[in-house]
Amino acid sequence: MVNNSSNDKKKVTTHSLLEMKQKGEKIAMLTSYDYSMAKIVDESGVDMILVGDSASNVMAGNSTTLPITLDEMIFYGRSVVRGVKYAMVVIDMPFGSYQGNDYVGLSSAVRIMKETNADAVKLEGGEEIIGTIKLMVNAGIPVVGHLGLTPQSIHKFGTYAVRAKEDAEAEKLIHDAHLLEEAGCCSLVLEKIPATLASRAASELTIPVIGIGAGGGVDGQVLVIHDMLGMNNGFHPRFLRQYADLHTVMTDAIGHYVKDVKDSDFPNEKEQY
Ligand code: KIV
Repeated sequence: MVNNSSNDKKKVTTHSLLEMKQKGEKIAMLTSYDYSMAKIVDESGVDMILVGDSASNVMAGNSTTLPITLDEMIFYGRSVVRGVKYAMVVIDMPFGSYQGNDYVGLSSAVRIMKETNADAVKLEGGEEIIGTIKLMVNAGIPVVGHLGLTPQSIHKFGTYAVRAKEDAEAEKLIHDAHLLEEAGCCSLVLEKIPATLASRAASELTIPVIGIGAGGGVDGQVLVIHDMLGMNNGFHPRFLRQYADLHTVMTDAIGHYVKDVKDSDFPNEKEQY
């Protein structure tokens, strides 16, 4: 049994994230979307919790992240923040809440910060959203960038395959990563890109680079909690390490409950008033 909880643990901030990078301490990040899961994730010693727009997939059952709304992200974000004492909580800005209009982006980020009490927002993109990011940073909002496979652009990419394998796209990614750092991002997520490219970005940038499907040469890792706990039966991408088989644990437990009810075995005398 691994116990990462510690009595002298302090709230993780943008400042402590930078210190972790400087000390070479890896950053552990996971997603959460509700109070109870976030409480467990926080108590397990995770440094950052992402209220990802992957909620659109794993919570709402959509096939992409596009349908989730700002109001829904605020609902999930607020629920997570209530369960967290230590981890830095980052909330994804959903598709349509920032693209194409810097001031719409600012007002969406302000709503997220005001209505959830989270610590930062995350948004997908490079050069094209630098103006939006500068407005947010100037307003005092910590911003996490996201490059590589950016699922909100799935209809442009047409596939969830590895990004930036060709030189031109790789150079554009490094250029965008520097722009994001210069605009004031406190951290950067790199999704599904070659490990050598991610490692280059992490060594060129001073802000922490968190990878998902981006190899071990970055400053930290993020996974979707449902995937790493094995709740998503049948989802086994190469980058995923599955730490539990909750699908089996849960279907077994629920199957036993159904049997006990059908057999009139539950509740017994001790389980009633
Ligand atoms: O929405 C999400 O969960 C994410 C991670 C995959 C990084 O953006």
